[in-house]
Amino acid sequence: MCGIVAYIGTQEAYPIIIKGLQRLEYRGYDSAGVALMNGTLNVYKRKGKVQDLLDFADDKSTKGNVGIGHTRWATHGKPDDLNAHPHVSSNGRLTLVHNGIIENYEPLKKALQKDGYTFSSETDTEVLINLIQSIQDHDDLSLEEAVRIALTKVNGAYAIVVLDKNDPNKLVAARKASPLVLGIGEDELFFASDATPIIEYTKKVVYLNDLEIAVANRNGEFEIRTIDNSLTTPYVQELEMEIERIEKGGYDYFMLKEIHEQPKTICDAMRGRMNASEGWIRLGGLEEHSNRLVNADRIIIAACGTSWHSGLIAEYLFEELARMPVEVEYASELRYRNPVITEKDVVIAVSQSGETADTLAAIELADEKGALIYGIVNVVGSSIARASDAGSYIHAGPEIGVASTKAFTGQVTVLTLMALNLAFKRGKISKTYYHQLLTEMEAIPGKIEKILKSNSKIEYIAGEIKDSTNALYLGRGYNFPVALEGALKLKEISYIHAEGYPAAEMKHGPIALIDENMPVVVIATNQSAYEKIVSNVQEVKARNGKVIAVVTEGEKIISQMADYTIEIPETLEPLTPLLSVIPMQLLSYHIALMRGCNVDQPRNLAKSVTVE
Ligand code: F6R
Repeated sequence: MCGIVAYIGTQEAYPIIIKGLQRLEYRGYDSAGVALMNGTLNVYKRKGKVQDLLDFADDKSTKGNVGIGHTRWATHGKPDDLNAHPHVSSNGRLTLVHNGIIENYEPLKKALQKDGYTFSSETDTEVLINLIQSIQDHDDLSLEEAVRIALTKVNGAYAIVVLDKNDPNKLVAARKASPLVLGIGEDELFFASDATPIIEYTKKVVYLNDLEIAVANRNGEFEIRTIDNSLTTPYVQELEMEIERIEKGGYDYFMLKEIHEQPKTICDAMRGRMNASEGWIRLGGLEEHSNRLVNADRIIIAACGTSWHSGLIAEYLFEELARMPVEVEYASELRYRNPVITEKDVVIAVSQSGETADTLAAIELADEKGALIYGIVNVVGSSIARASDAGSYIHAGPEIGVASTKAFTGQVTVLTLMALNLAFKRGKISKTYYHQLLTEMEAIPGKIEKILKSNSKIEYIAGEIKDSTNALYLGRGYNFPVALEGALKLKEISYIHAEGYPAAEMKHGPIALIDENMPVVVIATNQSAYEKIVSNVQEVKARNGKVIAVVTEGEKIISQMADYTIEIPETLEPLTPLLSVIPMQLLSYHIALMRGCNVDQPRNLAKSVTVE
């Protein structure tokens, strides 16, 4: 996730771009840059926030009526001045800002290097701008034609804007799988990742479709073609939005937006890492240390909070699929316990922020004891990512809502790929089951879309239980960690006391709490322990508990006993948490909202816990 702003027209471009980038900072804020044309091309880039760029450019020339800008959320290459955008082609002529990932950048880079192209950054973006340059040089093509041909050669996702120093009267932009909006003003045109940088100048916009290329001219005229070079008739829309809302992509809260992003973020976590039809999984970090992982004595997972819940799901996955012994540890406990860890162990650190102090300390301890440290992290270049020997980013994009949602499903996705890959390498899984699981992984985003359509039903149920003072969440097997996660979501944003329990443990204590005032959320999708969970629901109903059951589509028995039912699509059991957690997130969101709580910034919590 990155933010793009570009301007061509009669006004000074720089203030428009800077203001726009600040609005887009939710999309990434590890470095920022601008390229401005004013007879000469000036490119300023800085690690840090847009404010750091502003300070850096304070004493420099920022004149020009055409420019492109970028705020970065690093994917390829750590956040620093060199990796920041815009990137300039080897001959200094073309400049590019990019949001997305060019998956085949490595072979393209090698081919360009053979032809003498040099690179100063670690980014996939610099490969793309040099590819465009090489095509333009070779055939002496117009910028838009060179961009079009280059894009037929890349795989992955992109929203781009390109500026040609030799032809500063136009900007060329394109998109595939990353958003890009064209704003149409009086004798001026804008591009941006969303409409927030544009809205105060014009309400007329065109949302570019996938595989469309737009040419914006200085006189305010524009043209949009498909990647096959056919001219399109653009659909010009009038924006009817308040700036406040569109900063959150049209959602009232970041948390709701992030819940709805999950079909996409799960795709991003899988992108380029697996192919169900060809039957492969490739996690860069894992390949490098394959032997050590495959032959490890034991996997220890260290994490906190929601990330610890992902770790608990991973325990079930690694044990069942790869037949590897796993221990899941609260990082804060592990670090102070003088644990037995050897060089034959692998310690997996799971963290959204990559900055959680306890998790960082736990892996430093494990590192001293000689274990291999593998990081499953969202924030690129964060401390835990840097302190790990190897790892895999979850590519969920910035998670701004303090309650973790899309990071959880991203973590579970990557941990599932890891478990499947090790299972395959250790010969512990049948080919058929391996293929079934991979195929089903690809179906998960679509199934989440379907669950998100139950939002109004879940909102209704939230209204029925919002005044409770306690809640119990029950699940078995893969759904036990989901019960813990559901309870955590509820307590952290709605301040209702909630407990997650393995369903069968209920009769060893918590059953004493059940009466007609106690909502009991039962995650009852399990195939293997289905009859057992039916009995658990009966036990709750026999004590007048109010049952909210999450069941598989078409389920009849529990649905008849429960007070409220939420259906989710069927999937293979190890993948159930990726679906069953979605109603948990929506339920807590609606309850918190109805109770007047600040959903995105719950009291006493912080997004990144850098203290013990
Ligand atoms: C809960 C939540 C926290 C974090 C925990 C670990 O919604 O966000 O429980 O999961 O503080 O943070 P990370 O994953 O950044 O290490």
